Amino acid sequence: MITWNDNPDQKNIIDMSGIGQSYDGGENWIIKDLRFIIEDKPDQGQFAVILGMSGCGKSTVLRYIAGLQKPTQGKVLLNGKEVDESQRASMVFQQYSSLPWMSVLDNVALALRYQGASRSEREAKAMEMIKLVGLEGHEKKYAQYPSLSGGQLQRVAIARSLLANPDILLMDEPFGALDIKTKLQMQDLLTSIWHKFHSTIIFVTHDISEAVYLADDIYIMKAAPSHFVEHIPIDLPINRTRATKRDPRYTALVHEVEDKMIAVSEM
Ligand SMILES: Nc1ncnc2c1ncn2[C@@H]1O[C@H](COP(=O)(O)OP(=O)(O)OP(=O)(O)O)[C@@H](O)[C@H]1O
Ligand SMILES: [Mg+2]
Repeated sequence: MITWNDNPDQKNIIDMSGIGQSYDGGENWIIKDLRFIIEDKPDQGQFAVILGMSGCGKSTVLRYIAGLQKPTQGKVLLNGKEVDESQRASMVFQQYSSLPWMSVLDNVALALRYQGASRSEREAKAMEMIKLVGLEGHEKKYAQYPSLSGGQLQRVAIARSLLANPDILLMDEPFGALDIKTKLQMQDLLTSIWHKFHSTIIFVTHDISEAVYLADDIYIMKAAPSHFVEHIPIDLPINRTRATKRDPRYTALVHEVEDKMIAVSEM
C-alpha cells in the first residue's frame, strides 16, 4: 500500500489531499480520498509516472494540477499555494493541442502573451525553446498536420509548455500516437529536458515499458472510487539509455509493475 512522507518540513511542489469528485451533486464519488504528494527537488527535478486502467481518473488528476478543473472536495496546492491563474502547470495532450491557424513560433510564444513581454522578446525566447526541441527551420510553418508530423507537433506542445512553466510539466499520454522510433527520440528529448531544467514531470501513459524507462517513481491509481494505491520507486541509474532496457533490473521492474497493475485492476 502507498505511504506518503508526512514530514512537516518537507516542501512539496504538488500537494493534493482529501480530493473528492462527484459530477451529480450527490454522493456518487468517482474520486474519493485521493492523495498525491510530490516533493519539491529543485536541484534535480523528478519524473513521476501515473499508471491506471482506463477511466480511473488520471487525466482528471492532471486537469486539477493544470487548473483546468477544480475537485468537488479538497485542495490542490502547488508549492504550498492553491492553483490559480497566477500559478498553474501547463499540459501536453495526446491529441495535438496547438493552434493550427498559427505558426510554430506564434504557438510557442503564446505561452508568454500574458506576461507583459514585448513581441520581440517573446519571439526570441520562443526561438530558444524551438531550437531546444529540435524544430529550428520549422518555426514559420503552420502548427498542423501534415505540414508537421505527429512527433513534430508534440515538440511544439512541449516547447510551449516549457516556456509557460518549466518547473512542472504535465503530459497526458503524449507519445501514444507516435511510431516506435519517434517515440524513443521523444522519450530521450524529455529526459534531457528534465535534466536541463530540473523540471518535475508528471506523465500519464498506458505503456509500462515506457513508464519504467522514464520514471523516478511510478504511482498506480485504482478506480471506483479512484485514488492512488501503489508507489514504486524505480531504482535504475538516473541516466537512461537504450542499454537500460537490456538491464535485468529494468526487465524485473517491468514485470513487477505489470503484476501490480493486474492486482490493482482486480481490487
Ligand atoms: N463530466 C463528467 N460527468 C461524469 N463523469 C465524468 C465526467 N468527466 C469525467 N467523468 C468520469 O471520470 C472518470 C475519470 O476520467 P478520466 O478521463 O480522468 O480517466 P483516465 O484515467 O484519464 O482514462 P483514460 O486512460 O481512458 O484516458 C471516468 O470514469 C469518466 O467517465
Ligand atoms: Mg485520460
